[in-house]
Amino acid sequence: MTSKEKLIIFDTTLRDGEQSPGASMTRDEKVRIAKALERMRVDVIEAGFPIASPGDFEAVQAVARAVRESTVCGLARALEKDIDRAGEALRDAASARIHTFIATSPIHMEMKLRMSPGQVLEQAVQAVRHARRYTDNVEFSPEDAGRSDTDFLCRVIEAVIEAGAGTINIPDTVGYNVPQQFGELIRNLIERVPNADRAVFSVHCHNDLGLAVANSLAAVMNGARQVECTINGLGERAGNAALEEAVMAVRTRQDVFPCDTAIDTTQIVPTSRLVAGITGFAVQPNKAIVGANAFAHESGIHQDGVLKNRETYEIMRAEDVGWNTNRMVLGKHSGRNAFRTRLKELDIEFESEKELNEAFARFKELADKKHEIYDEDLQALVTDASLAAENELIKLVALKVCSETGEKPQAEVTLWFDGGETKVTAVGSGPVDATFRAIDSIVKSESELQLYSVNAITSGTDSQGEVTVRLEKAGRIVNGQGADTDIVIASAKAYINALNKIIEPGNRAHPQV
Ligand code: KIV
Ligand code: ZN
Repeated sequence: MTSKEKLIIFDTTLRDGEQSPGASMTRDEKVRIAKALERMRVDVIEAGFPIASPGDFEAVQAVARAVRESTVCGLARALEKDIDRAGEALRDAASARIHTFIATSPIHMEMKLRMSPGQVLEQAVQAVRHARRYTDNVEFSPEDAGRSDTDFLCRVIEAVIEAGAGTINIPDTVGYNVPQQFGELIRNLIERVPNADRAVFSVHCHNDLGLAVANSLAAVMNGARQVECTINGLGERAGNAALEEAVMAVRTRQDVFPCDTAIDTTQIVPTSRLVAGITGFAVQPNKAIVGANAFAHESGIHQDGVLKNRETYEIMRAEDVGWNTNRMVLGKHSGRNAFRTRLKELDIEFESEKELNEAFARFKELADKKHEIYDEDLQALVTDASLAAENELIKLVALKVCSETGEKPQAEVTLWFDGGETKVTAVGSGPVDATFRAIDSIVKSESELQLYSVNAITSGTDSQGEVTVRLEKAGRIVNGQGADTDIVIASAKAYINALNKIIEPGNRAHPQV
């Protein structure tokens, strides 16, 4: 990093990102994402909203225990009971932050809170004071600041800084603002609040008009030194500012920005893939930075230019954001040591020798089917191994499918379920449908399929298919993943992974429910 001022990156994939309908994550999935964010050198990880449910509390607690390098943050309304719960969940964090909020816009105060501006101000101050009992690191957000009265915002901000808030986050909660005006708002607040120099100003922009990143950057130009964002722009409704876009804009245009982040940008693509796989929210191919086509040149003129000099049509290097252009790393004859070494280079670690051995056995199986094993295959294989470890209630023992022109596809599935093996045959409109019907007739989960998606992990017809299945039951939403060179087997694995989560009694409701 240069000697420029620091721009703090606050990632809220695990909190606001999880508020995307359908993007629920288990506690272990949240820990895996948090570890990836820590590797990326994200400064603050907002791990959840501890009062929302026991599952949310446990997830924040688990992230607080697992992460050592980044600050871990928990969200709390401006209420003592919320703040107590957040303080408790964060107790074991190496560095903890409590983020408390209350709405300040006329419509939110009148219609939602039914409180006067004076009452809101008083509650905000009490909340910050209470949060300071747990940590020195307190962030305050005037929710819907983007539609709040600037004079009132100034009064609230001055009072909460006085009460001990070190970060003042200005949310454009409904994505209503436009860059020039939002930038001016930030400049105005910093200039007008008398004790503004005692706090870091932050922004949290939603993408309802597609302006979340533009608004965040306008704020940075006007003095904000923290950006709240999410991987792949996940988040409530149209999402939040995408971390990868905000970070790469600032890094690429150091000629115009007065600050820089500490982010290790080579971790961006692997983390994006991890989040997409876990949430089932695929990244569109033309998405900036992390889309499959973000560095692909189709037009002949462009290809010719790039071959002569990359900078004719590229403003960033693919490898700087973690694209490794399908590098072949291992094959059938690679040994255990090469496997372990490459995983280490990819920052994939195992908790035990047993886990490593299991993953190596899977690698050998895969190498028998697929000659060239890429980094992406290794990532999927490890995900698959950790999923399989969780899959204790239902296991796929065998699968046979028959698909023939003019005939109804048929699947014969053998599952380990309820302490024994059961074999069932079913027909369906396709081999995947037949497989799911067969599994259903054994497990009888009564859940509803909300999403089924298949992605090729690498290029070529021998690529592994990565399948995501989303199920809903009584308001609970879970995502399951599976990968295999046979997409019907990958689908069965993903379905079983989701079923294992949905029938697990400890799993929590989606925070929106
Ligand atoms: O969008 C919003 O206002 C929020 C706050 C809780 C910061 O997510
Ligand atoms: Zn938000």
